[in-house]
Formats: sequence, structure tokens, C-alpha cells
Amino acid sequence: MIELQSAQQDLVITPPLTGISLQGTIKVPGDKSISHRALMLGAIATGTTTIEGLLLGEDPLSTAGCFRAMGVEISELNTEKVIVQGKGRLEEPTDVLNAGNSGTTMRLMLGLLASTPGKFFTVTGDESLRSRPMSRVIKPLTQMGAQIWGRQDHNLAPLAIRGQQLRPIVYHSPIASAQIKSSILLAGLGVEGKTTVKEPALSRDHSERMLRAFGAEIETDPETLSVTLTGQPKLMGQQVIVPGDISSAAFWLVAGAIIPDSELVITNVGINPTRTGVLTVLEKMGATITKENERIVAGEPVADLRVRSSKLNSCTIAGDIIPSLIDEIPILAVAAVFAQGTTIIKDAAELRVKESDRLAVMAKELNNLGAKITELPDGLEIVGGTPLKGTEVDSCSDHRVAMSLAIAALAASGTTTIHRALAAAVSYPDFIDTLQKICL
Ligand code: S3P
Repeated sequence: MIELQSAQQDLVITPPLTGISLQGTIKVPGDKSISHRALMLGAIATGTTTIEGLLLGEDPLSTAGCFRAMGVEISELNTEKVIVQGKGRLEEPTDVLNAGNSGTTMRLMLGLLASTPGKFFTVTGDESLRSRPMSRVIKPLTQMGAQIWGRQDHNLAPLAIRGQQLRPIVYHSPIASAQIKSSILLAGLGVEGKTTVKEPALSRDHSERMLRAFGAEIETDPETLSVTLTGQPKLMGQQVIVPGDISSAAFWLVAGAIIPDSELVITNVGINPTRTGVLTVLEKMGATITKENERIVAGEPVADLRVRSSKLNSCTIAGDIIPSLIDEIPILAVAAVFAQGTTIIKDAAELRVKESDRLAVMAKELNNLGAKITELPDGLEIVGGTPLKGTEVDSCSDHRVAMSLAIAALAASGTTTIHRALAAAVSYPDFIDTLQKICL
């Protein structure tokens, strides 16, 4: 019923005519954002950092590869214990650094490279990453004195960076983006004085939490949504425990909610309030989700999430909540297709510059399956309640699109073939195995 045709990277899903129900307990892989940050801070700190629960997806592998190329000793990657031996500095790599598909690797690393005086770096990525805007970090870094060159007026990779002694800035970011905020804060580590980033809405705060744990002085002002870092701290290696990724849990939360007679428990999920917009929205739509065993693990809130199938209603998803569910919009679009009424998603133009143009791709592919979705300049209008019928769809090599379409296919009638479905390995290498296990 769920078959992977590896040669073509296709995933073929045929739900039985009698219908399916989803049952079981799922452990999602480690949080992608926290995994990147643990590797990077471990790499630039002095001493040993141990990382438990690292995501073994392709994106953190790209980060590890880049920092190994800059002389950092990183043990073999596994989920039990990864050891990073930081020397407190980066060496000049002898080759181009390759960030693969990972925007977080490229943007956060740029902050660090730009502030490594006297060293020269070149950075590239895959076809998707080479088309994603980098000027959003290059512009503020240049204000700090960075020297970065790239295609299209210093916006697109491949990029060349000549590391400099930077100066502090107060940056008012026009976009609520943790990648922008983190890139500037990481650059600010090498600066004498205070670096401040102010954002229009609160984005994920994993960098702030982890920088503090490694020894940096960080002040946050919730009133003005600003973060201030005092430069030149002595960062010391730490023990990091990575919680499960709520962005990966989101696929099962929606699957459990829309497929009748289902009940799933997703254990060890990070529920940092800057990431839980998906829970707020699903609850507003009528999903039955309960948090169990709430606890704090290595500075991050964690819980087990139980979801039972429910009748969903439409809702509006817009405004300041968007950054807290930015990566979950593709799967929330699937939830909206199965909800009664018209769901409006707005203020989400950022989706157009993710691993693919997620607004265009989700509208096109879900409409291929029979949904009624109109693309808006900054969102989607989704008329729910129309049954989906299997056909051929394409992930456009976008991991979150691939997994969202797989969940839509489970709830559709007939056979759906998802082309380029192996893209899921970017953030969730076991996704297809787990899908096979929980379908009864
Ligand atoms: C991330 C931030 C988000 C998110 C991305 C990971 C991070 O991007 O979409 O998957 O780890 O900082 P933006 O900060 O650009 O919104």
C-alpha cells in the first residue's frame, strides 16, 4: 500500500478501499534548528561539546561537513552522542564550503565567516539554495563591515567572503526571521561591544537560548522584540540534548487529526513557545491534541503529544503567529483541505523563498489531487471539504512538500505517486518507514 520506488525516488501510496486508521507511538528525529546550532556553537567554542539526539538529516550533515573543512573535529554523526572538539577558532578551508540544501547552514555560517579576520572562504549550495536570497543577511553583515561577494549584486551563492574585524550595529530587520537574527548575533560574537537585532515579530529563539548556555551575555526585550549580545564572550563547550522536531511531529499531528479512527502519540517533542503555532492553529481548527509529560530538557521545553481524529473547521492563519509555524504551513494547508469552510493563510510571502515556492507548489499539487486552493500573493485561500483523488504529484525536491503530499495521499482515494519523495531525508530520513509502521 505504501511503496518506495527508490530508482525513481517515487513514493506510491494506495490507501485500502476499506480505509485506514493510524495507531502507534512515534519518536520524531531531532530538531533541525537546534541540531545546526549545537554543531556550530560546539565548533566555535573552546573545549568539548557533546550532542545527544542530533538530527541525522542531510541538512545537519552539510553543517558538520562545512565545519570539519574548517579544522573542527566532529566525531561520526549518530543520534546517541556526537562529540565536537572546538578550538575557539575556524581555520581557512582549502576548498569551497558546501551547504547543500540548507539555508540555515549558509545564513548562520555567513555570520561566523564574515567575522573571522584574515581568512578567506567560498560557499555554495545545491540548485535550490543557489537561488535563495542571501542579501537579507549580507546587507546587515555589510553594515557591520563584512566583505561578501556573490552573484546578482551580492545576493546569490556561490559567495566569497573575506573575514574582517566587524563593528557592532543595531539592526531593525524588515523580516521576522531567526536565520537573519542568528546570523547577525553570531557575527556579533567577534565584535567589541553590543550587537542588537530587532524583529517585526518574534522568530524562534534557539540561538539566544543556546548562546546563553555556552556562556554569552544576551539580553532580550519582549516589548521591542529586540535581542542584544555582548561581543567577545568566552564560549565553552557544553552538553546539548536535542528534543524531537515539532516541524516533523506536525505531519503526524495532521495525519492523526484528519484520518478517521486514529490515535497517535508523538514522544519527546520540543514545544518551545516560538515554535508551537501549529498546535495553536490545529486546536483552533478543532483538533484534539493533548500535551503529556511536560518537562524542560537542556533549556528547551519538551512534551509528548497525543492526537485523536476530529472534525476540523476552517480558520484564518495570519499576522504575528506566522513565524511560529512558518515551516508547518504546507501541512496546515493539507489540514485545511479536510476542514469544513474556507481557510485563509496570509502574511506568509516568506514561503515563496523557502526550499521551493511553497505557496505555488502546494496550491498546484493539492489542486492536482482535487483540492480547491487559490494562491494569494502572500498566502492561500483553501476551500475545504472536497474529497481528494490520487494522481501523480511532484515534491519539487522540497522535503516538507514531499511529506505534506504523503499525508494528503493517505487521506485521498486511489493511488498517489509522489515524485522526488526522497527529499524527505533533508529533515526526516525515517519518514517513509514510520509511515509504513503506523498505517493499520
Ligand atoms: C530556521 C528558521 C526559519 C525556518 C528554517 C529554519 C532556523 O527560517 O524556516 O527552516 O533554524 O533558524 P527563517 O528564519 O528564514 O524564517
